[in-house]
Amino acid sequence: MYTKFLLQSIGAFALLTSCENKPTEKVNLIPQPNQIEILNGSLPVSRITSVTLPSSLFSMPDSTLMLLHQAGLTDVRLTDKDAVLKFEKDDSLAENGYTLLIKKGKITIGCRDYSGAFNAIKTLQQLIMTSDKKALPNLEIRDTPRFAYRGLMIDCSRHFWTVDELKQTIDQMSYFKLNKLHLHLTDNNAWRLQMDKYPALTEKGTYYYDYPELSGKYYTKDDLKEVVRYASLRNVEVIPEVDMPGHNTALLAAMPELSCNGGEFEAYPEERALNSRKRGMENMICVGNPLSLQFVEDVIRELSDIFPSEYIHLGGDEVPTTYWEKCPKCQKLAKANGMTEPGQIQDHFTRDVSALARKYKKTMIGWDEIDERGVASPEDVVMVWRNEGFEQQRHALSRNIPIIMAPQHGCYYDWGYAGNSTRKIYEWEPVDPSVSADKLHLIKGVQACLWTERVATQNRLEWMLYPRLTALSEVMWTQPEKKDWESYYERINAYYPVMELLGINYYEDDALNETEFAPTDEKPALIRHANIETNIPLNPPYHPEYAFDGRSNSFFWGGTSVGKEHYFTIHLGEPVKAQAIEIITGDSKDYITMADLLVSADGVNFTKTSEFNDLGEAKANLDRGELRAVKIQVTGQHTCWPIIKEVIIR
Ligand code: ACM
Ligand code: ZN
Repeated sequence: MYTKFLLQSIGAFALLTSCENKPTEKVNLIPQPNQIEILNGSLPVSRITSVTLPSSLFSMPDSTLMLLHQAGLTDVRLTDKDAVLKFEKDDSLAENGYTLLIKKGKITIGCRDYSGAFNAIKTLQQLIMTSDKKALPNLEIRDTPRFAYRGLMIDCSRHFWTVDELKQTIDQMSYFKLNKLHLHLTDNNAWRLQMDKYPALTEKGTYYYDYPELSGKYYTKDDLKEVVRYASLRNVEVIPEVDMPGHNTALLAAMPELSCNGGEFEAYPEERALNSRKRGMENMICVGNPLSLQFVEDVIRELSDIFPSEYIHLGGDEVPTTYWEKCPKCQKLAKANGMTEPGQIQDHFTRDVSALARKYKKTMIGWDEIDERGVASPEDVVMVWRNEGFEQQRHALSRNIPIIMAPQHGCYYDWGYAGNSTRKIYEWEPVDPSVSADKLHLIKGVQACLWTERVATQNRLEWMLYPRLTALSEVMWTQPEKKDWESYYERINAYYPVMELLGINYYEDDALNETEFAPTDEKPALIRHANIETNIPLNPPYHPEYAFDGRSNSFFWGGTSVGKEHYFTIHLGEPVKAQAIEIITGDSKDYITMADLLVSADGVNFTKTSEFNDLGEAKANLDRGELRAVKIQVTGQHTCWPIIKEVIIR
């Protein structure tokens, strides 16, 4: 007799409590399945020695067998009959959905196609990696994602990611059942896409006279085809983006004839100082020049050769019109079409490139500015990014335009963990409550975006993404009523060792369980009587007082990048005998890394005690010396706006 425990209520993650064959562990999955029932008994992993992979589901059984071995089923071999692990085609299930039954010494997986089979394999892998690895609990899962589009964008222009690094990203994201990888291939900094027709693009568009070690990095067509192949085996569709008509300094470096004014342009690395970037703001393609549209068609044709995805992302974000307003060709176009405002030049371009995408049987995705004046059509997809995104969501849905939600609040992981905390992301609901049921199908899904201006290594990329991306995976996959922070919090703690085994360099978030820090107009009380003096420009409501309020999850956030002239001083109301000082800056970024820590016994004369390290920390031992004031003196130019979490005096 089995005793069944139904564990699909809010907050439950499955805990096995049966008395027969009692497994000792919890079932611990991220994202949480939408329906899971735990049965008594278990199946030793060592008994999973055979598998059938029907051709109706698997076109490359050898590759799938390799995935099963990697998932921890190291003894499994292909067989035609009586397999322990069976996959069965089930057309009643949705794409990416699957059923998984572990019972009576067998595993049966049902799925409509390969996408569901892959997700079921990842569930098995998670069960193996989070159990004692010797036995899988008997269970029944019936699982379908909330959203079909579960994406991650990687900015390949600001910094370059090798094919091997992209493969690591694909392995990691697919482990948490994400299925779309959006590659931002071009921007002002570099044109990373090799094109047969325009070889100069990758020569001049990736060349920096002052940074030879960063120059010449781009993807050949074969590189990208290899990424597509690798991704497709892992149920990840790769979607290319060529950002137009703005963000194009690197393109214009190779093809200045596509600019409004001609002349010389130069791609710039983020490492180059702002004031030595040439014509950095003049990054627009000339829409009035017919050659521009010809160029776009060439790009779409060549992208179509590489990427089988139905989607093609053609950018459309942050398009200043200043140069178009002074360009005779653009002005001629505006006049001929009776335009009444400069933004309509972008709209004209949007309509043309959307039609070109359809000519090549693609659906255009564009950043939400393409719909600013209501020009996007139901044949396009709007990728919502600005602010919270709900206004753009309502605007697009009211005209039946499909969208993908990737708003800054919730989805931008170039922001530090202070601005988009793991908990804020987990508790984020991407659908505006006013959206009616008949419009829900237009919300294709959700996407995390990692812009890489200040992310230059794979380790740092993973640090910005994890654990936050696992929280978002549950937003993407699990129905809202099945989500629960306490349950996720317990599960993610069990995933740190798993992420280590997977080689993910995750961020150790000491404020993981805290709710979002919400600064208020009113300044917080200080932990001691004191007066704060600083010349770092303020960024209210992130008041300086938050750096000395006794709480390390609240913080002061400066309003510009800081350099040698900047300081931050706390004058104590009464002198204290201090043993030590510790200063914590930054959260996962926005660290102060070039600065001295000084102390003063009289509030006037300061002596240097130590320097800040690369993690934005400084410490000093004072051996109970008299202390009147503590000063942070910045000693070098930073690119970030500094965060000071806390000045701790012991
Ligand atoms: C964007 O962040 N400019 C799409
Ligand atoms: Zn022009």
